[in-house]
Amino acid sequence: MVNCERLSYALGAAITDIDIRGLINGDDVKSVQEIWHENHVVIIRGQSAKPQDIINFAENFGVLDNHEATPFYRMEGYPQLLEITTKPFNGRPSETRNVGRNWHSDYSYTDRPAAASMLFCVNPAPLGGDTMFCNMVKAYETLSDHMQKIVNDLYSVYDISLTEGFYERDPSEVATTKQLNPPIAHPAVRVHPSSGKRALYVSERVSHFHGMSQEESRPIIDFLCLHATKHENIYRHVWKAGDLVCWDNRTTMHVALKDFDQTKARHMLRATLIGEKSGFLV
Ligand code: SIN
Repeated sequence: MVNCERLSYALGAAITDIDIRGLINGDDVKSVQEIWHENHVVIIRGQSAKPQDIINFAENFGVLDNHEATPFYRMEGYPQLLEITTKPFNGRPSETRNVGRNWHSDYSYTDRPAAASMLFCVNPAPLGGDTMFCNMVKAYETLSDHMQKIVNDLYSVYDISLTEGFYERDPSEVATTKQLNPPIAHPAVRVHPSSGKRALYVSERVSHFHGMSQEESRPIIDFLCLHATKHENIYRHVWKAGDLVCWDNRTTMHVALKDFDQTKARHMLRATLIGEKSGFLV
């Protein structure tokens, strides 16, 4: 039996009695999935997991991405895990110290936008460095009927270079990552394959809507992002070591806040579940 406790008005639930290292049976997986679909973000606290434990647990919920879209940031020996860290690497500042600084859904700039992500906290920032999530189903449902009709017909063009801090990374890695991920258009409303719910699929990494100029698109993108990230539509997670936070990328956006001392360690491992093939290159 898996128990849960809701964490905010808009989204997020904590699962209180699970050890991700244990064998979880089919019924447990189904219960977690139901809680996850209902609450969009699921928090499992107090885990003492090793990289392989995270992978084993995540594989219960789908196929893991080997992160070929961002190959430089994979954990050595574990391509299924991205290392998001402030720890310097080879004497240089970590390339992933500023991952996730604007509102986004993971891997939206690929042709297999992530279905879900699981982020394990090895080491939280001493103070700050929270992650905020917003509910994109609610964001869609609280638009007027007219606005829903407009967005139903739009295709969001995702551009990896709109990732905040992208050009602060190593220039050769920037060039390769751009080449691997050319701009791609996805429907601005994503239908969840299990729940059938419609969710807004627009973020701060959208340059324009396909068939519209940037000038025409910008006010709509700005409005939709502001609308989606209103305070009442957010859950803010304050990290503790051993937290595993799982989010559905089809129904949420998230942002990793920069409000912490980057000379101190903040160290996270992310598994990503592959989503359905979608989109067209523009
Ligand atoms: C991410 O966007 O996947 C990273 C989130 C975080 O580091 O809090």
